[in-house]
Amino acid sequence: MKVLIADAIDTAAIERIKQAGLEVTVATGLSPEALLETIPNFEVLVVRSNPKVTKKVIDAAERLKLIVRAGVGLDNIDVDAAYARNIVVSNTPGATAISVAEHVMGLMLALLRHIPAAHAKTDQGVWDKKSFMGGELFEKTLGVVGLGKIGREVAKRAKAFGMKIMGSDPIVDPETAAELHIRLVPFEEILAKSDVMTLHVPFLPETKNMLHQGNIGLMKKGAYLIFCARGGIADETAVANAVKSGHLAGAAFDVFETEPLPEASPLRNVPGIILTPHLGASTHEGQRRAGLELADIVLRFSNQK
Ligand code: MLT
Repeated sequence: MKVLIADAIDTAAIERIKQAGLEVTVATGLSPEALLETIPNFEVLVVRSNPKVTKKVIDAAERLKLIVRAGVGLDNIDVDAAYARNIVVSNTPGATAISVAEHVMGLMLALLRHIPAAHAKTDQGVWDKKSFMGGELFEKTLGVVGLGKIGREVAKRAKAFGMKIMGSDPIVDPETAAELHIRLVPFEEILAKSDVMTLHVPFLPETKNMLHQGNIGLMKKGAYLIFCARGGIADETAVANAVKSGHLAGAAFDVFETEPLPEASPLRNVPGIILTPHLGASTHEGQRRAGLELADIVLRFSNQK
C-alpha cells in the first residue's frame, strides 16, 4: 500500500508505518495542483490541517481508500465526497486535547498578566513596571463552552488555579458535569457571568457565528475571551470592536476564519488582543500521540486489506 503523508507528522509515526512494510512518501506543502497530480498513485492519504482534501482531490484519487487526519475534527476534508467513493475517513480526536488545554491556560495567563506586551517593552529596553498591573485567575469564574475532551481538560487545569467553573454543552447532563466539578448552565449565563470565557465547540452549522455582534454585548464587562476552537465560530470583527471599545478586557485567538491570518484581519494590531498561529495542538508530546494513533489506524486498515 502506498501512503502519502501530506503534512508535518511525527517522525516516529512515519517510521512505524515504514517498518510495517508500507511505501511512504512524505510531501508537505504541496500546492492544490501538485496534490491533484500526486494523489492518483496513493491508497492512503495522511493530513493535518493541510492540505485541503476537496471533492476535486477525491475525484482525482482513483486508488484512495483511507484518509487519516492527525487532529481533532475533519475540517479540511470533504467527508461527503469521500464517503460517496467508499473512502474511509478517520482522525485522532483525543490525542492533542492536553496540548490545546495547556495552550488555553497559557493564553489565559498571558492575557491577565499582559505577558506579550510586557515582553515587547522589556525587549526594547523599556523598564515599565507600572503599565502592566495584572489580575489573578484565583476565584475568577471561567465559562467553558463545549465540554468535550478539550473543554474538560481546560476545566481540570483551571480548577487547580482556584477558578470557579461553569460549563455549557447540549449533550452533557448535570450529573456528569458535577463529577467534573463544573456547574452546568445555559450559554446565556456563561456570557453574562464569566470573567474568562473559552470556546471548545466544533465548527457546525449550529455553531457558525455562535458569538456575534448581538450577544458579545451580553458578556460581562471586562471579561476575557479565549478562542482555540475553529475559525468561524466567533465573529472576529465583533470581538475586535468589543476589545477596542473596552467592553472586553482582552481576547486571545489561536484559530481564524481565514488561515494564515490575512493582512487586513480586524484582529491585528489591537492592544489587548493576543494572536497565535493555530498552535494549540503543536507540541512534541501531542504530535507524538497523534502520530502514533494515526499509524495504528493506517496499519489496522492495511492489515484488513
Ligand atoms: C487539530 O485539529 O487537532 C489541529 O487543528 C491540527 C493541527 O494543528 O494541524
